[in-house]
Amino acid sequence: MKKITIAIDGFSSTGKSTLAKQLAKALGYVYVDTGAMYRAVAFFAMQNNWISEVEIAKDQIVKSLVNIKLHFQFNPSLGFAEMYLNGNNVENEIRSLSVSQNVSRIAEISEVRSKLVEQQQEMGKEKAVVMDGRDIGTVVFPDAELKIFMTASSRTRAQRRFEELVEKGQRVTFEEVLENVEKRDYIDTHRIDSPLVKAEDAVVLDNSTLSKEEQFQLVLQLVHDKL
Ligand code: C5P
Repeated sequence: MKKITIAIDGFSSTGKSTLAKQLAKALGYVYVDTGAMYRAVAFFAMQNNWISEVEIAKDQIVKSLVNIKLHFQFNPSLGFAEMYLNGNNVENEIRSLSVSQNVSRIAEISEVRSKLVEQQQEMGKEKAVVMDGRDIGTVVFPDAELKIFMTASSRTRAQRRFEELVEKGQRVTFEEVLENVEKRDYIDTHRIDSPLVKAEDAVVLDNSTLSKEEQFQLVLQLVHDKL
C-alpha cells in the first residue's frame, strides 16, 4: 500500500499527540513527537541553569548542542516511543509544567531548530510517519501528503492539560496552566524562525466539541482518501 507522511501541527494542548498516536497505531506508522525533542533540549538547559524566567544563556545552549543526543525508544507496554536525552529516559521530566514554561523560548533559537529539524527529516525520510509539532507541514515536511492543523479554545485546551497534569500527581492550578498555554501560543506564533502558522494546504480541525473518537474517524477518512 502507498505510504504517506502525515503532518499534524497546531496550538498547545490541542490533542495532537493523542490523534497522532491513534493514527500511527491504526496505520502501522511511526509516530514522532517533535515537541518532546524541544522539551528535552529545554530540560537540558534547565539542568545546567542556562535558563531562568528572565535570562537565557543562548550562546552556551548553542555551543552545547553537539553534546545533546536525543533518541526515541519504543516502549511496548505503553505503545509509544519515549524520549531519551544522552541515554536517559526523560519522558516524565519533560512533561512538567516547569519545562512547559521554558520550552518555547528554547524553540525560538534558530540553531536549536535547525538541528532538530534535520533529525526529524531523517526520521521521516521513509514516509509511513505521523509527526506532530508546530512547523511540520510548513518546514519539516512541506510536501507531506496530509496536513492537519489543530485548534480549540484556550480554556478547553488548558482544562485538558490541567486534568492530565493533576492525574500525573503534579500540583498545579488551572490558572497557571491557562497562562502557560496562552504564553506558549503567543511565543510560538510570533517567533521569527518557523512561527506556528497553518500551511496553506492544511485541513483545519477545531476539536472544541469533538470527542477523540469522532476526531479520529474524521481524520482516518482523510488518510484513506490519500492512499
Ligand atoms: O508539542 P508540545 O506542546 O509538547 O511542544 C512544546 C513546545 O515546543 C511548543 O510550545 C513549541 O514552543 C515547541 N515546538 C516547536 N516546534 C515543534 C514542536 C514543538 O517550536 N515542531
